[in-house]
Amino acid sequence: MTVPATNTANLLRQVSAHDFDGDESARLATIREAQRLINRLQHPTERSWELAFENWAILGTLQTFVDLGIFERWLRLCRLLAAKDFIEEVAEEQYKLTPFSLALGDRGSLQAGWIQCGHDHFKYGGLDHFSRFLQETSYRDPVDGGNTVYRFGCPENLDLWARCSLTPELQTSFSEMMECWTRYKTHWADYFDTNVLLSCEIDHSAPILVDVGGNRGHDISLFRARHHAAIPAGSLVLQDRPEALALAEVDQDKIRIMPHDVLTPQPVRNARAYMFHAVFHDWSDDKSLVILKHTAAAMKPGYSRLLIADVVLPPTGASAFQAAMDVSMMGLLSAKERTQGMWEELLSGAGFKILKIWKDPKQYESVIEAELGTPEQKDE
Ligand SMILES: C[S@@+](CC[C@H](N)C(=O)[O-])C[C@H]1O[C@@H](n2cnc3c(N)ncnc32)[C@H](O)[C@@H]1O
Repeated sequence: MTVPATNTANLLRQVSAHDFDGDESARLATIREAQRLINRLQHPTERSWELAFENWAILGTLQTFVDLGIFERWLRLCRLLAAKDFIEEVAEEQYKLTPFSLALGDRGSLQAGWIQCGHDHFKYGGLDHFSRFLQETSYRDPVDGGNTVYRFGCPENLDLWARCSLTPELQTSFSEMMECWTRYKTHWADYFDTNVLLSCEIDHSAPILVDVGGNRGHDISLFRARHHAAIPAGSLVLQDRPEALALAEVDQDKIRIMPHDVLTPQPVRNARAYMFHAVFHDWSDDKSLVILKHTAAAMKPGYSRLLIADVVLPPTGASAFQAAMDVSMMGLLSAKERTQGMWEELLSGAGFKILKIWKDPKQYESVIEAELGTPEQKDE
């Protein structure tokens, strides 16, 4: 090591997010290295403590502060949050908000929705529910969406979507988390060229884009904003469960809101594109095949495109985001993320051929562009 150990802390303290000047790949690579550094330096007991003890105390504390509106009111904050840099201690019993705690107090940032969603939903797909469920099911890979860790762990013994449908607050925290997550991710329209959809002779008797499982419309609204002038009224369609659509705030001149259950036949026929963003990772292969076959039956051969924005797991070196999302899907919905080979098999099984896989530079999700047809045979 070239830097004396005593100087390392001083050097690290000087690094800030501004140093990267918007270079997201470099910022994320640095976080990864910093995390590896922590992993190398931590004693096993320190790591266990953080995972199994401290996290729950911090989440409980943050939730209480959000509930009480303490971040908005800037009152005295506690030592634990200062010790973990959620706030900054500037003098005895005096604390300053950090960008993170400010964001928690700013409802528009939707960060508080994440914390709430952790309490409302994510904890039921993890914790000891996860290990006990796997033990009780003889460590079989969960593939039955009706029998999930989540359902096993939650007090009502219901699946994620059923709980959201019964309790509006649970739907709200889930939807806020999804929108916040979408704002953070590289938007699919930034690495998939959306002009592809408009640069052919458009059939105006059918919609241009159907956002299937589009939640409260954050994705389709961005598409509308980008191509505002080129899009006739009513030619965008937002589909989801009625309870998710109840929270949609979209331009209803251009965007038609349509309740639709993905496991039933697709009512919108001959659209230019059917988009599924973070939808198939919620479903096992057999249910995904049902959804794909309903979509295929609605598509016009040679014209309609299928767009899937989801994780494509690399053969090696999956990021922590990708790997954690895979295990979360296992716990929440008995579902999974897929490798390119798994996507090829699933799509060809429903009569699709992949035209191109558009990759997110942040290496989180990709857009799989496909159409009806048989995949070309690869030369041996
Ligand atoms: C992980 S979210 C993705 C939402 C959105 N596409 C995004 O990327 O932010 C999955 C979506 O599928 C919807 N969903 C779940 N079951 C459904 C069903 N049977 N029919 C239609 N939509 C469903 C949920 O309400 C939710 O909005």
